[in-house]
Amino acid sequence: MYRFVFTQVLSRFDAEDIHHLTVRALHLLAVLPIAKRVLHRRLAPRDEALRVRAFGVHFPGPFGLAAGFDKNAEAFEALAALGFSHVEVGTITARPQPGNPRPRLFRLVGNRAIINRMGFNNAGARAAAARLRRPRGLPAVVGVNIGKTKVVPEERAAEDYMASAKELAPLADYLVVNVSSPNTPGLRNLQAVELLRPLLESVKSVAGRTPLLVKIAPDLADEDVDAVADLAVELGLSGIIATNTTIGRPGVVSDEAGGLSGRPLKARSLEVLRRLHARVGDRLTLVSVGGVEDLDDVWERILAGATLVQGYTGMIYEGPLWASRIHRGLSRRLRRHGYRSISEAVGAADRVT
Ligand SMILES: Cc1cc2nc3c(=O)[nH]c(=O)nc-3n(C[C@H](O)[C@H](O)[C@H](O)COP(=O)(O)O)c2cc1C
Repeated sequence: MYRFVFTQVLSRFDAEDIHHLTVRALHLLAVLPIAKRVLHRRLAPRDEALRVRAFGVHFPGPFGLAAGFDKNAEAFEALAALGFSHVEVGTITARPQPGNPRPRLFRLVGNRAIINRMGFNNAGARAAAARLRRPRGLPAVVGVNIGKTKVVPEERAAEDYMASAKELAPLADYLVVNVSSPNTPGLRNLQAVELLRPLLESVKSVAGRTPLLVKIAPDLADEDVDAVADLAVELGLSGIIATNTTIGRPGVVSDEAGGLSGRPLKARSLEVLRRLHARVGDRLTLVSVGGVEDLDDVWERILAGATLVQGYTGMIYEGPLWASRIHRGLSRRLRRHGYRSISEAVGAADRVT
């Protein structure tokens, strides 16, 4: 049904217009408490075997919505009601900013992919904090992803991230330092360990007890993935989110600049996860994102060492019931393989001889 609506209607309109319309509809849903609760009861994961405890936070399931969809923390309750076990809001910057000129979001339907160069369009940390402070009508696990304000120079990046962290960490179930989006000039340089170390130390000093994670790019060289992993362990971070979109164009023909997500990212995202798992084992929580389309992909990531899995582009192609379907399938898959919980399956690929 969704596929029909997508090909016949949605794909004929501008991708960003459809996105704003969807967020508005979800926002509306969030102010209809009964509808929201009915959806939550039907679609949110309820199977105890799916519950995940990561860095001290309880998640009703392993599969969540990646950053970039709910940039301003407007729709996370409705998204949780649709079955995502957690919603990562943002990227949020300390100051409000408009992002890049439109068009900046492109569907590559044949590749089941998206290219975006949104450039952290968002209403800023204060506006997001006000929304996150509102009383909630249902339980929702909310991660907050923070990035650098575009006009702030690289040498003042730490102050800028700290301003967001101070405002948002107390309102977040976990906090993510995003140094991996390709659409803010110079941002990804912050992944170099000599810049990343002081940045993460600064953010950690103001994050209090909120678990802190770092989100990395798939375009890092393998040695740099290892270096970031070692640093994260050394600094006592809670985890790593891998990966953001790629500036590569594997198997894709397009002249549009920006970050590529969806199916073409799958292989590299999985490769980075395997590398991280081999390097850090269970000393960090690994959150795998990039090219996840279906239950098989989520299962593969869990077996490869991901405690949590996220997706974004898949929802554009699969529709609003995507997360709920995946969680239902996971319940069956766990039982079929004789696991009593997700945590028993995490990293199991290593244990099979
Ligand atoms: C339109 C769009 C906007 C995004 N915005 C952000 C963002 O603001 N911050 C971030 O960390 N990741 C952002 N991402 C990256 C996703 O969170 C995710 O890491 C990436 O898309 C790979 O997952 P996928 O293949 O399931 O889409 C964005 C992705 C898309 C498609």
